[in-house]
Amino acid sequence: MERTLVLLKPDCVQRRLMGAVIRRFEEKGLNILAMKMMHVTPDLAREHYAEHVDKPFYPGLEAFITGAPVVAMVVEGLEVIGVIREMVGATSGLKAAAGTIRGDLSSSRQMNLVHASDGAEAAQREIGLYFRPEEICSYEPTLIPWLKAGDEA
Ligand code: CMP
Repeated sequence: MERTLVLLKPDCVQRRLMGAVIRRFEEKGLNILAMKMMHVTPDLAREHYAEHVDKPFYPGLEAFITGAPVVAMVVEGLEVIGVIREMVGATSGLKAAAGTIRGDLSSSRQMNLVHASDGAEAAQREIGLYFRPEEICSYEPTLIPWLKAGDEA
């Protein structure tokens, strides 16, 4: 089992698309272990987007991500990091494939609705930025026998 950090970004909250996006993860059978609405501070934005801080688009990205609340989530599942990246789609909503969250719901490179960790190391680091260990509610979903065969680890 893997865990990943998902953020429903300010455009997702403002556009009332939180339910539509969460629904896709639930329908896929993924397990939401933690979820909270919060403001991203400029300090947190700089930590989260450390690799982008020196890029020309960073000031706009920081203003965007701190400009309204986000919903942060920890999501668990088999190969969940890759599965959610596929569900989210390419960075720009204009390039993202139809059927993905961004492809279906976004027409922007910056306002692309959802952030999802891009690898195991990023997931661990980003989960630690947004959640204390005691905020993560591990549980055994009772419908697992109906989501995958017993030999699918
Ligand atoms: P995300 O997947 O959260 O990772 C970095 C974010 O920066 C990205 O989604 C976009 O919101 C934003 N971003 C990436 N590239 C650009 C760009 N060229 N111009 C503006 N924003 C960008």
